[in-house]
Amino acid sequence: MINFKKVIASKISEATQIDEKELETYIETPKDKANGEYSFPCFRLAKELKKAPPAIANEIKEKIEQDIQQNQKIERIDVAGGYLNFFINKEVLVKEVLQEIENSKEYGKSEIGKGKNVLVEYSSPNIAKPFHIGHLRTTLIGNALYKVYKYLGYNTTGINHLGDYGTQFGKMIEGYKMWGNEYDLNDDPINKMMDIYVRINNLCKEDEAVLDRCRENFRMLEAGEKYCTDLWNQFKDLSMKEFSKIYDILNVKFDSYNGEAFYSDKTDEVIETLEEKGKITESEGAKIVDLEYAGINTPCIIQKSNGSSIYATRDLAAIMYRAKTYDFDKCLYVVAYEQNLHFKQIFEVAKYLVKEKYQKGLEHVVFGMVSLPSGKMSTRLGNVVKIEDLIKETIEKSKEIINEKNSELDNKEEVAKKVGIGAIIFNTLSTANIKDQIFDWNTALNFQGETGPYIQYTYVRTRSVIEKVGTVPEFKNIKIESLLDESSLEVLKLIYNFEDILVQVTEKNEPSILARYLIDLAKAYSSFYNENKIIVEDKEIQDARVYLTYAVGKLLKQGASLLGIEMPEKM
Ligand code: ARG
Repeated sequence: MINFKKVIASKISEATQIDEKELETYIETPKDKANGEYSFPCFRLAKELKKAPPAIANEIKEKIEQDIQQNQKIERIDVAGGYLNFFINKEVLVKEVLQEIENSKEYGKSEIGKGKNVLVEYSSPNIAKPFHIGHLRTTLIGNALYKVYKYLGYNTTGINHLGDYGTQFGKMIEGYKMWGNEYDLNDDPINKMMDIYVRINNLCKEDEAVLDRCRENFRMLEAGEKYCTDLWNQFKDLSMKEFSKIYDILNVKFDSYNGEAFYSDKTDEVIETLEEKGKITESEGAKIVDLEYAGINTPCIIQKSNGSSIYATRDLAAIMYRAKTYDFDKCLYVVAYEQNLHFKQIFEVAKYLVKEKYQKGLEHVVFGMVSLPSGKMSTRLGNVVKIEDLIKETIEKSKEIINEKNSELDNKEEVAKKVGIGAIIFNTLSTANIKDQIFDWNTALNFQGETGPYIQYTYVRTRSVIEKVGTVPEFKNIKIESLLDESSLEVLKLIYNFEDILVQVTEKNEPSILARYLIDLAKAYSSFYNENKIIVEDKEIQDARVYLTYAVGKLLKQGASLLGIEMPEKM
């Protein structure tokens, strides 16, 4: 497909001798149609060219206008103050988009990431602890990022860095030894393990001897002693079974489950390297790296006074291991902002452990808090919300709504599942990562709101248009002229932008950009649908409009699937 931004950048580059790639990044897409489809802010060049922006704009326009008009991709250039506004040739646009829709199996798929290795670390729950709603958010953001990077040709690896190690397991083992026979861990194991943990933790506070036994258990676990290792494996299996239920419903997958335990025997290299470089100081028997020089007031603890590693040490070992194993260009950590300090610390310490390429690739993809509106949860969910129950309840509620709207529908169960899960995923991904959010059913399941069900509903509408006319019209019969009205063009411009949107998602690691885009596309289609009758006398017009409808359906489905949302064919 023609890349209009590139066409514009290359012309401006010829006129100014400034690097084309750099110019391309300056190009904006104006909100107001009166300013064209693309605009170039000349103030960006004022310093380099030593002139006022309006003068630059006029000069560039003069130099490139004739040339640009000759090759017919751009219709017109306007100068507006310090801006150059570009109006693209609409017929070229329509032709390009339709051709691409016709030719591509997966629209917008590309190879721009070819040869680059991206690691996305997401979900990473803790063994024997509940999978909470914050874990749901990392799971869904990470899953979407994983899919988008892959779609753009990056060699992508999804990692679930399980929290399956640490001194707390010494306590868990002791608690189980004492009260294990009181619990049936086959039913609701996570809450029961939590219960054991809370009990033993309290006892440790009262009784130093118990605490000593816990420490001893952990030492035995580290040494690979059988009883402790077996128990720990049992806790892990029980937890994984619960987590898998959630991953299965949401259709989330990982390429690796190497969590903290995997790195527990790889921490010596971290300590040795830091020691060789003279970065370690002793503090009350512990080994620490002072980071004050970097403006981080809390030092990074590398080894506790009793010799054991901590969370940060295992993360540092993971960075070294991942650099060696995956030669990563990017290593993304989708983790809540509560862990900001932790990531600042380990990224700083990583400067002594891995090459610059890898240091630069490390990125904490931060997200905000998620809460549930209090009082609105059904009581059976209790205080600790089980994500599995939250999902089930959402599916239940979608079934009620679907029943009301279309009681004749076959396979209601399946549709309700897609709608319920779509609602959860979309609700989670439609706010910017950094914003806090509330999960509220009334908002998430509103078919008219900016929601997953609204996008699914719009998709279903496109399907029923095609069903009504019987088939997708043949591409060769589509007349460009029939799609040059405002509302058709609005839709086509959006379709054109899809790949650019995906690139933005990877540049900012923000799936919300794609989620917002799908809403814009669905809304643009609704206006198109309201303004243009689709089934009409004039066969030529009808074919063009039905084809556009088909294109929208294809894109909504493709875009939603990159977020992890499936489309029902009817609802
Ligand atoms: N297990 C941690 C938690 O649930 C998240 C792990 C984040 N990833 C990491 N590499 N530290 O809070």
